[in-house]
Amino acid sequence: MSGQISVLLSLAILAIFGTVPKLLEEPGAPALPWIQLSFVSHNPLTLRCPGGQRSGRVYWQYTNGSTVTAGKARTIAGPWAARYYRGPLKELKLRSRVHWDQLVVHPAWVADSGLYTCKDGGRTLARYQVEVQDATRLHISHASLGQGALAKLTVPQRAQLFTRWGSWQTCDRCGALGERKRLGYCYARPASAPQGLAVPCGLLGLELPPRGPELRMEACQVSCPPLPPPALPLPRTLQARPGQSVELACPGASIHVPVSWQRDGVPLTWLGLLGRGGNVGHSLDLLTGGASYRIARVAASDRGLYRCLVNGRQAAAFRLDLPTVPHRRRFNLGRLLAVARALVATFAALFVGSAILELVGCCSSDSTPCLGY
Ligand SMILES: *[C@@H]1O[C@H](CO)[C@@H](O)[C@H](O)[C@H]1NC(C)=O
Repeated sequence: MSGQISVLLSLAILAIFGTVPKLLEEPGAPALPWIQLSFVSHNPLTLRCPGGQRSGRVYWQYTNGSTVTAGKARTIAGPWAARYYRGPLKELKLRSRVHWDQLVVHPAWVADSGLYTCKDGGRTLARYQVEVQDATRLHISHASLGQGALAKLTVPQRAQLFTRWGSWQTCDRCGALGERKRLGYCYARPASAPQGLAVPCGLLGLELPPRGPELRMEACQVSCPPLPPPALPLPRTLQARPGQSVELACPGASIHVPVSWQRDGVPLTWLGLLGRGGNVGHSLDLLTGGASYRIARVAASDRGLYRCLVNGRQAAAFRLDLPTVPHRRRFNLGRLLAVARALVATFAALFVGSAILELVGCCSSDSTPCLGY
């Protein structure tokens, strides 16, 4: 009995200190290549673990560092992750979850750059060398405003920096003039190997001038698919005071998916908000590709029904409401008092009147017994 308990105890201690995954490690397995990937901060980071969804035992390890010989790997998601961490590692673990065969870190920060390994027991299923590029350095350009994308940058004797573009996302609305965007990451090709493979700028391991990712936008027009319109989400009412700042956050939206906004059915476009002639103080969050709509100092004229669409589907609706201005309230209170006063006066008059009538009726008629005699 005590033997069993001690075995259980030592197993628990081993699990706590993370030795179990190491004991399960198969030393003879061939090393997988490191896949180099870039992401953008303030948005979700998603890594795939091929074949990982079947076992349900998959866990992810993180090593802080850009070189493959960096520090200690720590389990941040999956069944082995129930451990106590502090500081940035704890923060990363709280933002990480395993979803099917994927690791999702939402939102990702620049400090999450490092090595990510997906494991199933002792088997390594995938290894990634990740750079999270800074969304606050995002270069945004809209073709319809005549804005240009960043040019290639040659750093003599070091590298050539350029933007590696992702594909265009689908148009953010249908049946009307819409907009589409695409994201590009900073990539670098070392001067020593001009024909060689380009890598995410931060993974080159060289001191380089600062250059961030890029977001490009342009107009587009597509017709709507012949499908019945899906059920609209019920609006959530938001009460705001005049002058307050308001942020409407669209669930499921990020820089990686088409997002669009409308107010009382009228499209709110990047073109309108980035260019001149937009509503002053109204803006879309640039860092997340429009996942939130902001109003700097809300006024009564901003009242309305705001909707956001993600991938062409209504994702949320907000009814922005402002309470009536204070002097109206005082006026209402005054009126209420006047009504109350009038009511009291009426009751008093009725009471006095009925008392008089009773007295008069009592004394003029002999048939009614009066005052109990
Ligand atoms: C990784 O290391 C850097 C530099 O020491 C630090 O700023 C960052 O917070 C660390 N990130 C994590 C997730 O531990």
